[in-house]
Amino acid sequence: MSEALIERARLDWMTALARVGSESKRHARPVVEGVLTRMVGLTLEAVGCQAPIGARCDVVNATGERVETEVVGFAGDRLYLMPTSEVRGLTPNARVIPTREGSDVLAGPELLGRVIDGRGRPLDGRGPLRARHPVPMTGKEINPLNRKPIDEALDVGVRAINALCPIGRGQRMGLFAGSGVGKSVLLGMMTRYTEADIVVVGLIGERGREVREFVQEILGEQGLHKAVVVAAPADSSPLMRIHGAMLATSIAEYFRDAGGKVLLLMDSLTRFAQAQREIALAIGEPPATKGYPPSVFARLPQLVERAGNGDGGGSITAFYTVLVEGDDHADPIADSARAILDGHIVLSRELAETGLYPAIDVETSISRLAPQITRADEFARIQEFKRIYSRFRQNRDLINVGAYQRGSDPEIDRAIAMQAPMNAFIGQDMTTAVGIGDSRAQLAELLQRAEPVAAPADESASAGELVVGDQL
Ligand SMILES: Nc1ncnc2c1ncn2[C@@H]1O[C@H](COP(=O)(O)OP(=O)(O)OP(=O)(O)O)[C@@H](O)[C@H]1O
Ligand SMILES: [Mg+2]
Repeated sequence: MSEALIERARLDWMTALARVGSESKRHARPVVEGVLTRMVGLTLEAVGCQAPIGARCDVVNATGERVETEVVGFAGDRLYLMPTSEVRGLTPNARVIPTREGSDVLAGPELLGRVIDGRGRPLDGRGPLRARHPVPMTGKEINPLNRKPIDEALDVGVRAINALCPIGRGQRMGLFAGSGVGKSVLLGMMTRYTEADIVVVGLIGERGREVREFVQEILGEQGLHKAVVVAAPADSSPLMRIHGAMLATSIAEYFRDAGGKVLLLMDSLTRFAQAQREIALAIGEPPATKGYPPSVFARLPQLVERAGNGDGGGSITAFYTVLVEGDDHADPIADSARAILDGHIVLSRELAETGLYPAIDVETSISRLAPQITRADEFARIQEFKRIYSRFRQNRDLINVGAYQRGSDPEIDRAIAMQAPMNAFIGQDMTTAVGIGDSRAQLAELLQRAEPVAAPADESASAGELVVGDQL
């Protein structure tokens, strides 16, 4: 072979090598597979593969099907994985293949009216989703100084909230209640009657049966057409429940960044925290307060801070339900939620038991932004309502046993006379909406009607006499 030919072959060889080199640089590094070494509960351990936290890995089971998992932690060269799909037929030394799937999800107006799972797949049998705008599951950071301030109320269609606990556009509220006190019905009312353009509902960790009930009965067609429902019920893996809450928030962010007035309803924040507790304990994090490891308390603000006003014209007003087991308001999740949210509405079992729905406890519910979003006279009326209302509650026992003598305290007399109309004001049939203008006008009318009649010149006349309408 001549020198020239050898030189040419060498050059060809070098060029080919360079091409392969640049190709492999352009594509990511080759996938390094690992093997499954241990599985305890829902925690899988793999060695040999390289994947960062949050990456997806497929584990190939005995029948060749792939079980989807996510990297949730590591120790030395061991990776801890948690399944995001059903776990079946795993064997020791099963192949663990890191996938290059990103954590982006697809959003778009096509999602309206749809019910999807925590991975963004349709659950409603209405065909494939056509959304095509990728949005990050973990959200995008907004400089807190660039967020638009909250200075405008959002009509939620519920009189007691609109008038007595007004919610600002971009505010994040807690809905605190025990089980079966009417959270779902209240969220449904807000979905149907709010003035928000879009409602995103996250049903996290609730009973599977309830998802269907919520969508078909509570939401109905009227609520569903401008809503997106993300459902990750109790039987889905803890990771799916976390993803469900994050996905619902990502979808809300998409609509907010497109300039929409979004209402995000998350039922429930407690189940989200419990899912994080399950994961953290499974990978060995030590429990702290009431069995909740510290990472739970870090996760809550990460999720909640994503709601609020954006730096454009859009907003996410959010309600997170918080379960207060046995009506114990000192639960660590309730405590933590109270600290990171801009107010809370408390549903009272006592009121629900008397048949008053929505069972909003006006005394303990507060909206921290009420002064910013109401006029001075409106705010004064809220205070007045609360004052009269709690006056009755403080003296209720005395009144009920007949130990209170009418006429001995005009304020209490007024509170007694106002009880029925005040309860009628709080109560609202679930099939009717009351707009914010009507709510405020009705409150003004209620308090005006109940104003004590000016004391006549003759001192002997009854100074505390009231003029009160029976019902609204
Ligand atoms: N506005 C309302 N009007 C009439 N009844 C209501 C109203 N709200 C709730 N209820 C009654 O209370 C029951 C429980 O309500 P709901 O399912 O909303 O409670 P929940 O707090 O979501 O319960 P869970 O904790 O089990 O999820 C309903 O089945 C209904 O009978
Ligand atoms: Mg419910």
